[in-house]
Amino acid sequence: MKRQIPNLREIASLVRLRAPHISTRKHRLDSALTIWDLRDMAKRRTPRGPFDYTDGAAEAELSLSRARQAFEDIEFTPGILRDVSTVDTSSLVLGASVALPFGIAPTGFTRMMHAEGEVAGASSAGAAGIPFALSTLGITTVEDVKAANPNGRNWFQLYMWKVRERSRAHIERAAAAGYDTLLVTVDVPVAGARLRDARNGLTIPPQLTLKTVVTSMSKWEWCFNFLTTEPLAFATLNSWSGTVGDLLDSMFDPSVTFDDLAWIKAPWPGKLVAKGVQGVADAKRLAAAGVDGIILSNYGGRQLDRAPVPFHLLPQVVREVGRDMEVHIDTGIMNGADIVASIAMGSQFTRVGRAYLYGLMAGGCEGVDRAIEILSGQISRTMRLLGVSELAELTPHHPTQLLRLVPIRQVNR
Ligand SMILES: Cc1cc2nc3c(=O)[nH]c(=O)nc-3n(C[C@H](O)[C@H](O)[C@H](O)COP(=O)(O)O)c2cc1C
Repeated sequence: MKRQIPNLREIASLVRLRAPHISTRKHRLDSALTIWDLRDMAKRRTPRGPFDYTDGAAEAELSLSRARQAFEDIEFTPGILRDVSTVDTSSLVLGASVALPFGIAPTGFTRMMHAEGEVAGASSAGAAGIPFALSTLGITTVEDVKAANPNGRNWFQLYMWKVRERSRAHIERAAAAGYDTLLVTVDVPVAGARLRDARNGLTIPPQLTLKTVVTSMSKWEWCFNFLTTEPLAFATLNSWSGTVGDLLDSMFDPSVTFDDLAWIKAPWPGKLVAKGVQGVADAKRLAAAGVDGIILSNYGGRQLDRAPVPFHLLPQVVREVGRDMEVHIDTGIMNGADIVASIAMGSQFTRVGRAYLYGLMAGGCEGVDRAIEILSGQISRTMRLLGVSELAELTPHHPTQLLRLVPIRQVNR
């Protein structure tokens, strides 16, 4: 090896002295390249109870891990030599435009994950041109979410209360505030067993036991926000001090049936979508009942464990009812490529729950922006690498589900 005396001029040209970043939060978030990176950040910054409440699922958490596994086990077949110099990720969903093929799923008690809560989600969604869905168990009112996303699309998620008039009041309030779509959750007759919450002794709002105080001390930003912002309380309830599971069981009606859909639909001027559909027969009944769309979902694995993988249901459900109403999907999406595969298999739209909440916990509103930016970048890159420049060009030939998790009946068909 021939050596030489270091040439100072050449070395100087390699040195890059950058001015220090003004916003350390932005710098930190930019270092997250995937939703999993945001999850790691979220875990470091959020006390265990709220983090596990978000990250966890029901029982042995098989529904969630299988849904994620199904997405990981997709093989893509790209088309080559196509002009992909521009890519268009926009589409029409439930009668209006969206800039990206995903929206923010309704999640309860979102200010427990980060003080900026639903306001962060709604304003980031509005800026990105995607819909934001507010849960009945939100901490922010229908009107405050609307104020955070005044020109964008806001959707309201409805649980049916045992006292029906409360549901009616929510429907009317969301309609008056200009929400355009009502998502009726249909897979929560009772709460799923969220074992992490039981083990952590998580109550709503979180109680400050000596253990919580000691274990949360390193999450100083979360604690500071918790202590210096408005107390956590449900926007639709006066007060509650049990677990979310207890709340669901005590307030919401397990006797709801298909017959109630007409009652829900009557006062609602916008689109009606059933969230939590998990079978072809039920999808057909909903189409016959006249809903505008369904979401194939198992509530992010937080309800029935060992539930069907929504991605596996897509082809048959789209074949049976796709001409009558829109079919959407959620559960397990952690990458924009999962979204591209879902659209290719016939889903018109997708929704992310945890992917957005990890961003929120990692850095409030800027963290949600980062989560949307990561997913959006992955979507357009995957589309380009597949050789498609608009969503309508995606077909079921692009993704192939590798065998590991496909139901035996589907393999034999
Ligand atoms: C922390 C958390 C709270 C949720 N709360 C609600 C809720 O109040 N109402 C509802 O219909 N779905 C709720 N969901 C389910 C989501 O709307 C969505 O179906 C699910 O998060 C999708 O799976 P993913 O988290 O893997 O994206 C919740 C999910 C999470 C993670």
